[in-house]
Amino acid sequence: MILIDLTGKTALVTGASQGIGAEISKTLHRAGANVVINYFDDPQGNNVVAAQKIVAELGDRAICCEADVRNAQAVQAMVAQAVATWGSLDIVVNNAGIIRDRTLKKMTHDDWDSVISTNLTGVFHLCKAAEPVLADEGRIINIASIAGVFGFFGQSNYAAAKAGVIGLTKVLSRELARRKITVNAVAPGMIHTPMAATVPPEVQAKMIASIPLGAFGEPQDIAHMIAFLCRDLARYITGQTLHVNGGWHG
Ligand code: NAI
Repeated sequence: MILIDLTGKTALVTGASQGIGAEISKTLHRAGANVVINYFDDPQGNNVVAAQKIVAELGDRAICCEADVRNAQAVQAMVAQAVATWGSLDIVVNNAGIIRDRTLKKMTHDDWDSVISTNLTGVFHLCKAAEPVLADEGRIINIASIAGVFGFFGQSNYAAAKAGVIGLTKVLSRELARRKITVNAVAPGMIHTPMAATVPPEVQAKMIASIPLGAFGEPQDIAHMIAFLCRDLARYITGQTLHVNGGWHG
């Protein structure tokens, strides 16, 4: 049996107070890694409470850290905190993301800017801040989306950002290969999370009808792919977009 053992590794996961990011953090922690659970301060204070709950649940080897990925200085400070706490940084998972779906006619400049700055520029900020301190043979894993490949109706901002993430991933895989750091994107299909719950039920039903495995995925399905990519088993995989979508191809 091949076990995933990440003992001694430090992983930082953005947008990890809920959904896929929370599951990735828990899975990497179960595999033995130290985890930094990034959250974003919302006006209601829900995210800090959720992040602290995960840290309490995990017990040790976990801290939470506030940072808005749109803010390069805050991201830099979070990376510094990870290194100050555990002495190294081995795995970076760019998971934070938002949707602001509208057709072009209704999409405001703010809808466009907020999605691009969170889902694409935020990924650049963390890659840029982590690169100087990331361990050789480290991992950068960027959460893209099936939307960045398909281009769903009403998602020009989101699809552009996620397609951008795929392009950024390919370039960084070349630039960091010298240090044996692998850089990959994981493109989920539809996964049961608070984000997916915002899709109207009739649209959800249509989507499920197109998915060969006949259902949405679970956050664990994505977390398992991430855990695999973190292992030395995946050392020769870089610059790729790994699709985890129940066979959904159009
Ligand atoms: P979610 O809405 O449950 O979680 C997103 C997380 O990002 C939240 O914790 C939120 O607080 C955080 N976040 C938002 N803005 C932030 C900022 N400026 N700085 C730091 N954190 C911020 O969404 P879900 O579904 O867990 O999505 C996670 C990732 O997976 C996203 O990148 C999303 O685009 C991607 N994805 C999700 C799919 C799905 O079906 N759920 C499908 C394809 C991709």
